[in-house]
Amino acid sequence: MKNLEKYIDHTLLKPGAGIADIEKLCSEAKEHGFYAVCVNSRFVPVAKKALEGSDVKISSVVGFPLGAMSTEAKVFETVYSCENGAEEIDMVMEYGLLKEGHKQAVFDDIKAVCDAAAEHGAIVKVILETGALSDGEIVDACKLSEEAGAAFVKTSTGFGEGGATVHAVELMRESVSRNVRVKASGGIRDRETALAMIKAGADRIGASAGIEICKVPEGEEAEDVSSVLTPKNILVLNGSPKMSGNTAALVDAFCRGAQEAGHTVHVFNVANLSVHPCTDCRYCFDHAGECAIHDDMQRIMPHLYSDDVIVFATPVYFYGFSAQIKTVLDRMICMQTAKMTVKGSVLLSPYGDTDKTVPKPMIDMYKAFTGYVGWKNLGIITADGCMDPGDIKDHKALEQAEALGRNL
Ligand SMILES: Cc1cc2nc3c(=O)[nH]c(=O)nc-3n(C[C@H](O)[C@H](O)[C@H](O)COP(=O)(O)O)c2cc1C
Repeated sequence: MKNLEKYIDHTLLKPGAGIADIEKLCSEAKEHGFYAVCVNSRFVPVAKKALEGSDVKISSVVGFPLGAMSTEAKVFETVYSCENGAEEIDMVMEYGLLKEGHKQAVFDDIKAVCDAAAEHGAIVKVILETGALSDGEIVDACKLSEEAGAAFVKTSTGFGEGGATVHAVELMRESVSRNVRVKASGGIRDRETALAMIKAGADRIGASAGIEICKVPEGEEAEDVSSVLTPKNILVLNGSPKMSGNTAALVDAFCRGAQEAGHTVHVFNVANLSVHPCTDCRYCFDHAGECAIHDDMQRIMPHLYSDDVIVFATPVYFYGFSAQIKTVLDRMICMQTAKMTVKGSVLLSPYGDTDKTVPKPMIDMYKAFTGYVGWKNLGIITADGCMDPGDIKDHKALEQAEALGRNL
């Protein structure tokens, strides 16, 4: 089956698995071209070493399998996993609290993990343990996960009550926006079941039986499931006046990852455009969002109504955005939020200082603005110590930006 291997998180989470078992898992993932391996956090460094030079990603489980440990412990495990090479975090939601109606606590737990992962360019899949939940609880869990910043909702741990079902996958697909993907896991052992999950809306399959699942039965034609993949259109605004500076390097890395994953990027170097500041004339208020100023902003605006994601790439200028980005942002006052297709945003930003608190006011402003217009934060990547063009060359932010683009 064409592309089915790219749906597979090749998984080994059972107690008693050792280093040699994880190395074997990784070598199988490389050989069969699986999307990722899914391992317990202890084994992330082992997988990192074993997968060197390959494009197989590492998914680390967090709070596994009960989801009942403290949020602090989950955040620590997330940071440890990311720092050692995980690009994806599969966290277990505290479903006991959800069942008792403590939605805020469940949200806070998920958000803390999503925020910690986003700071490392990693994405989060929230394991709901659907076998233990009613339909209403599944819907609530999906909505809380999306609001908290999850990239995926995932059915089961494989260690709890029941595994993935077509019904649960369909319900999850309906309960999240198209910015959130669905992972089916738990009890998927054959090709037929995997296909049924994909048809129900699953974007990823977690299984220990990936090799078996991808085997095409003799005499059968491999099916092409590539149409199920959902490429995105991405608007990238580069607000640096330097065309080959540190911001441009972050943009290039992000775009490389995004294009590899099949997404389309539309990059605007704002410094080369003529965009005038908003004059607060309020013309747009009475003219269906049309702006009275006719300049290059009219080239950017249509993307808010056709693209899925917006990326703000800006150097830190005195604790904030560059004037180029701020000017574009102010002109967005005329946007009509109801018609917008953009649902998520990214911030990429280099700065000269080595004090990591420097970008905080800019990040606060980015979060306030995107929260105001209802965009989900898909990732914030900053690069310290980048005063002169080229300083970013060996910075880990480049790798993180590429991973973020790839994992959108
Ligand atoms: C007007 C201006 C203000 C700046 N303010 C800060 C700042 O507050 N903190 C900081 O760490 N770097 C600051 N910088 C340095 C830039 O953030 C840094 O050089 C960045 O890497 C430039 O990105 P570029 O190469 O893409 O243009 C400032 C630079 C300029 C020109």
